[in-house]
Amino acid sequence: MAICAKGNYFFLENECVSYVMENKGGVLAHVYYGAKISHDNVGQCTAFYPLSFCCPIESDESEWANLDTLKCECPTAHSGDFREPSVVIKSANGSRRTDFRFSGYEISQKCKIDGLPSLRGGETLIISLVDSVQNIEIKQFYTIYDDCNAIARHNEIINHGDSDVQILKLSSFCLDIDDNGYKLISLFGKHSNEAQIFVEDLGRGVRVFESNCGITSHKQNPFMALADKNYTEYSGNIYGINLIYSGSFKLSAELNNLNNVRLTGGINDNDFAWTLEPKKSLVSPEAIIVFSDCGLNNMSVQFSALYKKYLLPEKSLGKISPIVLNSWEAAFFDYDEVKLKQIIRSAASTGIDTFVLDDGWFGARNSDKCALGDWFVNTDKIKCGLSGIINECKDSGLKFGIWIEPEMISEDSALFAAHPDWRVETPNYKPAISRNQYLIDLINDDAFEYLKHVFYDLLHSYDISYVKWDMNRYITENYSAALQSGRQQEFNHRYTLRLYELIDHLTSCFPDVLFEGCAGGGGRVDGGMLYYFPQIWASDSTDANERTKIMYGWSLCYPLSALSGHVSKCPNNQNMRTITFSTRADIAMLGAFGYELDLNELSKSEKDLIFEQCQLFKKIYHIVKNGDLYRLINPFTTDYFSVMVMNKQKTEGYLWFYQRLVDYGKTPIRLKLKGLAKERLYFVEHFNLSLSGDTLMNLGFTVPAFYEDFKSVLINIKEII
Ligand code: DGJ
Repeated sequence: MAICAKGNYFFLENECVSYVMENKGGVLAHVYYGAKISHDNVGQCTAFYPLSFCCPIESDESEWANLDTLKCECPTAHSGDFREPSVVIKSANGSRRTDFRFSGYEISQKCKIDGLPSLRGGETLIISLVDSVQNIEIKQFYTIYDDCNAIARHNEIINHGDSDVQILKLSSFCLDIDDNGYKLISLFGKHSNEAQIFVEDLGRGVRVFESNCGITSHKQNPFMALADKNYTEYSGNIYGINLIYSGSFKLSAELNNLNNVRLTGGINDNDFAWTLEPKKSLVSPEAIIVFSDCGLNNMSVQFSALYKKYLLPEKSLGKISPIVLNSWEAAFFDYDEVKLKQIIRSAASTGIDTFVLDDGWFGARNSDKCALGDWFVNTDKIKCGLSGIINECKDSGLKFGIWIEPEMISEDSALFAAHPDWRVETPNYKPAISRNQYLIDLINDDAFEYLKHVFYDLLHSYDISYVKWDMNRYITENYSAALQSGRQQEFNHRYTLRLYELIDHLTSCFPDVLFEGCAGGGGRVDGGMLYYFPQIWASDSTDANERTKIMYGWSLCYPLSALSGHVSKCPNNQNMRTITFSTRADIAMLGAFGYELDLNELSKSEKDLIFEQCQLFKKIYHIVKNGDLYRLINPFTTDYFSVMVMNKQKTEGYLWFYQRLVDYGKTPIRLKLKGLAKERLYFVEHFNLSLSGDTLMNLGFTVPAFYEDFKSVLINIKEII
């Protein structure tokens, strides 16, 4: 891995990729990002041409480059580049014109971004651009890794001037590339139906993927990929982009009249305006830009490797995720001490590690209509208190976990009665209610301090090894009485910063507690959360069939080992579908595993299976966590789902194969494996095959027909020595 400056050029490179920029007459131009190239005088390859209606920039090479045709690293508004700007700043006189020119650079080890989650490791090039009229500096950060084909990007604006300015847009990156008839891939969805893969042609104009929900949302994930038009999982150039951010975001892809594609993204500039006082700075979230020259699967492998090594909490690396028994779908709100103890006892000696007490344990919380904010145990319901439940867990050989939803307040709660002003609301308007609840204004210092203390006390007072941090609504009103009227459009980003501060505080105070993220399932699956929480509840749909698609979708950008799945009741609580206990477990084992049903209601044979399943999970999880994922059959476009995970040494792995519906008319599936060593011999359990890697990968094998709907197999593949 290396970063070097040669003449007017900057090269960031590792063994596989190069990212090249040029200081072009003071404007920071993008030259190239893709498969590795040499340190030639790459300027010979880039043509600039004047056009009618052009606004040229004067370069010191006495060449006139038209700004609207230049590949630009930091395009600004009203400058003659009429494409999407990456930065827009309003000066004290109301103008939005800026002119940022190169002023210097430095190279250093990557530093943590203050107040925001970001990747660790790597080497960083920091390029300073200055607008000398207003004395504003933009630092552009580029980090490269030696073991992943990714560039981590973020920007920082510093006001060195004497007057306040207003930042109307601050992107994390801008990447201009030549068009190649690209496809765009994104992840859209809704509650219980997250991570649906959407592929479209990149058309002319601007395509935007965004959240205005205050959190990442189920609707759209902060991920997009630009792929060669004939790409497959294993061929074609792909640029994958993901924001390490949990607030309202925007990603855009613009194909212009000159066949240039501009990708930008960061904090959503819709309803955003940030007043930057003299000597203050504003930092964008980090964006990760992965390049793959061998298809979509490799892009996912790169994201996954990067996040597993440089993003997830260091403490969690190498640790096996505990197998949990969660009370939510086991009992919802309908439990008391006796029932909880029965559920806990039923998990003794099964291999389950942790009992998680989900919603309903606090205040008068017997339904979702009340008590959020009252974080003290309901002793009418749980007479023995949390200590009694924790002791029961200990007696049954289990650890104890607990559900919290810190950002919320119910109108019917003691907290609201005492502090009605802590609710997020707009003066004179009735605030919008969602799931019968409101947000707490994290920007209000008193509310923030209360949350810090109440959860510190909870975790300090009890032997809690696991916390599920939930968030069950989107943000409305977007107003804080703690902000001046001119700063209200800072609300969204400030809320996100305060949330990170709260999470950072609690996770740092309790480094041995495993925190799981959740937002009504997968409403906040993003790199920002994964920086603090090593796992996230992937979806409120626990139906194994739906989960094949949801997990396939998430696997584009996130390590599946960091997303959790549970075996739940049959017929399924959400869609009433009947699927066997063993298929439900196979699919839940794609990530962090657990159960979410009352084990007392299971048949003897099902109960016996739990022990085997837990043993299996403990055996496979280190491969799921540390190995590489290969997508084999797409459940969005076929009636099957198949993925495999192989360890790095290519000696052992697991194959998931799932059939949705039996269809006699169908030609049997030929499955070609991936990720094996060509010359080695492997045994494929269940199908009883002993074949070499090249045969399994190139010829493949016919999967015998399954005469059963919703049927899966989870198979060991092992090198024969
Ligand atoms: C939404 C979560 O996604 C569920 O798993 C459960 O914890 C409920 N909230 C509880 O209210």
